[in-house]
Amino acid sequence: MASLPPPSFVIETERFLLRPMVRSDASAALETWIEDAIAAEMLNTRPRKWSMEEQIEYFAKYETKQTNCLLGLFPRGQKEPIGLFIVKLQPEESIMLVTHLLGDTQWRGRGASREASIGIFEYFFNKLDYKKAKANVQPSNRSMMWLLFNGGWRLEARLNKHLCLKSSGVRADILVFGIMSDEWRASKDSAKTVSKRRAIPRADSDGSRARNLDGNADGGHPPGISRSS
Ligand SMILES: CC(C)(COP(=O)(O)OP(=O)(O)OC[C@H]1O[C@@H](n2cnc3c(N)ncnc32)[C@H](O)[C@@H]1OP(=O)(O)O)[C@@H](O)C(=O)NCCC(=O)NCCS
Repeated sequence: MASLPPPSFVIETERFLLRPMVRSDASAALETWIEDAIAAEMLNTRPRKWSMEEQIEYFAKYETKQTNCLLGLFPRGQKEPIGLFIVKLQPEESIMLVTHLLGDTQWRGRGASREASIGIFEYFFNKLDYKKAKANVQPSNRSMMWLLFNGGWRLEARLNKHLCLKSSGVRADILVFGIMSDEWRASKDSAKTVSKRRAIPRADSDGSRARNLDGNADGGHPPGISRSS
């Protein structure tokens, strides 16, 4: 049986810290996160300004339920997070369900998801002993599928008209992806951990704003996904 995390903990990666969000993390910087219609649809919520009151209420919900973790993704040295991971734990079965949002769109395409997910899995697989992770993804979510296939995940099922979209009431299919902890350990080193598409928004020691990582090898597209489709 896997363990539950303590109420407060920090996961560290090279560029980020991940930790449970608390009420005092509510901030104006997060108000735009679900205004984007596509992000809202992928998370199956209504597109809207995410008011500070609503954020506080949302973060508070997670404080009381130990099996549900809401982790903020904070670039080192920055007070506001740039995204969230929602991890729902079933310790008896050693299973975890993972959902993810990069709310600060400036950070998309910069390898943040990959780097943070390595920190997440090192913590939940290696430290707390979870054996399997699951993710539910809408078939139109190309970025997420790209990340999952490249990270060694497997498409396990397509649930027919399983989801009732909050924005339209339409019923949509859901793809269920999965990865076992030992598969993740085996594929971790071959998964691409840094995106090559865009510059990284941080000040370097010489004071310049951004560093471009163009030039790293590209591993090609995973099965079933093409950039033009
Ligand atoms: C999903 C999400 C976290 C990914 O952000 P990200 O880590 O910055 O991912 P990227 O934008 O770099 O996309 C990942 C990869 O998919 C590729 N990709 C993106 N759109 C694509 C498309 N239409 N076709 C093929 N590939 C695509 C990118 O090129 C990138 O690969 P690369 O790094 O080799 O260039 C972010 O888009 C997000 O927050 N979306 C809204 C919420 C959401 O969908 N959450 C998931 C719910 S399950």
